[in-house]
Amino acid sequence: MSDAVPPSALSEVQLRFLCHDDIENVKLLCGDWFPIEYPDSWYQDITSNKKFFSLAATFRGGIVGMIVAEIKGRTKVQKEDGDILASSFPVETQVAYILSLGVVKDFRKHGIGSLLLDSLKEHISTTAQDHCKAIYLHVLTTNTTAIHFS
Ligand SMILES: CC(C)(COP(=O)(O)OP(=O)(O)OC[C@H]1O[C@@H](n2cnc3c(N)ncnc32)[C@H](O)[C@@H]1OP(=O)(O)O)[C@@H](O)C(=O)NCCC(=O)NCCS
Repeated sequence: MSDAVPPSALSEVQLRFLCHDDIENVKLLCGDWFPIEYPDSWYQDITSNKKFFSLAATFRGGIVGMIVAEIKGRTKVQKEDGDILASSFPVETQVAYILSLGVVKDFRKHGIGSLLLDSLKEHISTTAQDHCKAIYLHVLTTNTTAIHFS
């Protein structure tokens, strides 16, 4: 597929929300990208539950990247992530947890990951406004690509 990716691929990338019909495709992509297996209910959830911000980046009709995030109150943060915010932040403060962020290998380093992250930031600024004080995700310590990505 790499031959088919022009340097200007980003200019052709479009964004749309994930939907139920994407489930099989998204399963394949996540299988490629992540070292964990998600249950079928997770795929149902991220493509239908409105609490998730689930965006696909498409190139000529095919999904080449996606971001799935949830904006939640700081009290809903998992225990091990509890220090994502200083305790001085009020309880109503919100955070955005990125459950999933991935780009198809041949399309990486074209700015698609950044486009997806920027779209999440834009979404936060229009919906959660100044209540959302942090965006975070989990990453393996060996995943240097994701750690360099910012
Ligand atoms: C992390 C990931 C989403 C980045 O997507 P991407 O589309 O390649 O990212 P971008 O092209 O927007 O890169 C943005 C910046 O990140 C950094 N970056 C991206 N890939 C990098 C790499 N392999 N090495 C070093 N820096 C890198 C660069 O600073 C880059 O800026 P540049 O355009 O000036 O080079 C992608 O590598 C991926 O899907 N990885 C597998 C899944 C994963 O690990 N997801 C994160 C955990 S949920």
